[in-house]
Amino acid sequence: MDIFALHAQSKESKIQVELAQLEYLLPRLVGRGEELSRLAGGIGTRGPGETKLEVDRRRIEKKIHRLKEKLKDIKGDREVQRKSRKDPIISLVGYTNAGKTTILNFLTGDDSLVEDQLFATLDSRARSYELPNGKNVIITDTVGFIKNLPHQLIASFRSTLEEITEADLILHIIDASDEEVTQKINVVEKELIELGIQDKPIQKVFNKIDLIDSRTKKDLEIQYPEAIFISAEENINTKRLRNKLCDFVEKSMNRYTLEIPYDDANIIETLHNRGIVEKEKYKNEFIFMDAFIPNDLSKKLEKYIVKNKG
Ligand code: GTP
Repeated sequence: MDIFALHAQSKESKIQVELAQLEYLLPRLVGRGEELSRLAGGIGTRGPGETKLEVDRRRIEKKIHRLKEKLKDIKGDREVQRKSRKDPIISLVGYTNAGKTTILNFLTGDDSLVEDQLFATLDSRARSYELPNGKNVIITDTVGFIKNLPHQLIASFRSTLEEITEADLILHIIDASDEEVTQKINVVEKELIELGIQDKPIQKVFNKIDLIDSRTKKDLEIQYPEAIFISAEENINTKRLRNKLCDFVEKSMNRYTLEIPYDDANIIETLHNRGIVEKEKYKNEFIFMDAFIPNDLSKKLEKYIVKNKG
């Protein structure tokens, strides 16, 4: 809990940590109070311990309620921001210390905090990144997973993890040099199932291959044939990762020509937000558009599509 408190940076994670601490404290406070009241109170009396306990408990409950309300407001704001994002979202997930922040930095050229310690990343960070094929993606870095995280913490950090549910692609970053590599992969995969996102496209990326011998690498390659093996720090095989991201974005969109009646002009905004609009002409009868559209959206817009350009 103290590690989380030390690294909480945004308003949201500070509130989350405070909430976690209070939720942790509340049941323990009750326990202590009962002991006190047994000691101090006689039969039929409330006991001095209990009176103070009641006051403390009410104060904490009120505070918890207030903090939850504040979190709800912040979450609402995030929702609005999320909806206005038009580019595909790629989320980096992984066991703590796997190298997520290092990868985010080398991809986006950003110098976010990178530290060799647990939970250097508490807040999920989002960076815009232009792929070599010219398309923009948003890459988000999330809090590192760890096994046996106290459930109060999991609940409090849910909104940080919820960001992953918005992702179009998940990059599962793995420290290839970790002796417990399989167990750590399992911890993360279990978490992803608990978040209900195991069906999203997930790409495993083994990082820190500069620290392993060729035999260990070979074994991992046999065990995980779909994975990519890189070293973010030593810039080994990173081009392969970039190309994979390009492939993914290209596969997730198709180019269409659409004719949209003026009555349905409200969908133009969605097209701009989610797709890449190449041409837009306002004709007499309809609005003409040439655009790259994500596959899920193109199904909803089928009636406006006049040509699929692939
Ligand atoms: P959390 O914020 O705790 O979740 O960690 P993270 O997954 O974001 O890891 P981070 O990027 O902070 O990297 C952890 C440590 O691993 C740092 O000391 C990095 O310098 C180091 N590291 C990252 N990538 C590599 C790599 O390819 N090779 C080597 N040798 N070290 C690396």
